Amino acid sequence: MDANAIAILGGTGDQGLGLALRFAKAGRSVVIGSRKLDRAVAAADEVRTAIPGASVVGLDNADATREASIVILSVPFEHTAGTVKGIRESLVSDQIVVSMGVPLATAIGDGPVRMLGVWQGSCAELVASLVPAGVEVVSAFQNVSAHRLRELDHPVECDVVVSGATPPRKRVMALCELVPGLRAVDGGPLANARIIESITALLIGLNVRYKVAAGIGLRFTGIPAS
Ligand SMILES: NC(=O)c1ccc[n+]([C@@H]2O[C@H](COP(=O)([O-])OP(=O)(O)OC[C@H]3O[C@@H](n4cnc5c(N)ncnc54)[C@H](OP(=O)(O)O)[C@@H]3O)[C@@H](O)[C@H]2O)c1
Repeated sequence: MDANAIAILGGTGDQGLGLALRFAKAGRSVVIGSRKLDRAVAAADEVRTAIPGASVVGLDNADATREASIVILSVPFEHTAGTVKGIRESLVSDQIVVSMGVPLATAIGDGPVRMLGVWQGSCAELVASLVPAGVEVVSAFQNVSAHRLRELDHPVECDVVVSGATPPRKRVMALCELVPGLRAVDGGPLANARIIESITALLIGLNVRYKVAAGIGLRFTGIPAS
């Protein structure tokens, strides 16, 4: 396992590929995971085409999980539990799983501006209930627009509230700072993920009302510079 590598499961999709491009551009090793090896390899090729010399490989989700100390889950909420169960055997103690999922009501055929109730409290806490003991779960990136991530020549201009236990939270906060324009905000314990996830539904509504297809971002004011 490469301690500096970042695995992105579902990294073939909009948000995952956007993060893969940004982290690769920042010089980090990226492992793109997919249910299908050929899709993962094609996504890795896409990253290398955009960023010549990028350190990126495509693997199936279970193999991708074994390659990196930080594993970002980038699958739609309704496939979160199934995906985590599928990689559980590949996870080891001290690995960090980043939950980015949002329980939007689209999962049951309703609209994207409404949230579903999740028994555990949030998608992130659902993930925490499924990983083996010793694996840390951190919540982050739910309020970042995939479209903005993929505009590589522009900063993303969004705060990322990061929640979870302190040492892994700090490691994920450092990841945010790799992306120009993103600012990590200390979101405290994982239970706060329920608040952050629901902000995404609000942002989707704002995008519609203000007609901003590329995605509106989030900024907190008054936070002292660290
Ligand atoms: N899009 C955004 O702007 C945005 C913003 C903030 C947060 N997010 C969050 O980021 C996550 C990914 O969003 P996205 O827009 O990138 O999603 P997406 O493009 O619809 O899907 C991402 C990946 O999920 C995998 N997937 C699809 N169906 C699956 C299934 N039945 N089982 C397991 N995996 C499946 C696919 O990968 P393979 O087919 O290669 O396995 C797909 O490429 C979501 O949790 C979303 O809430 C998205």
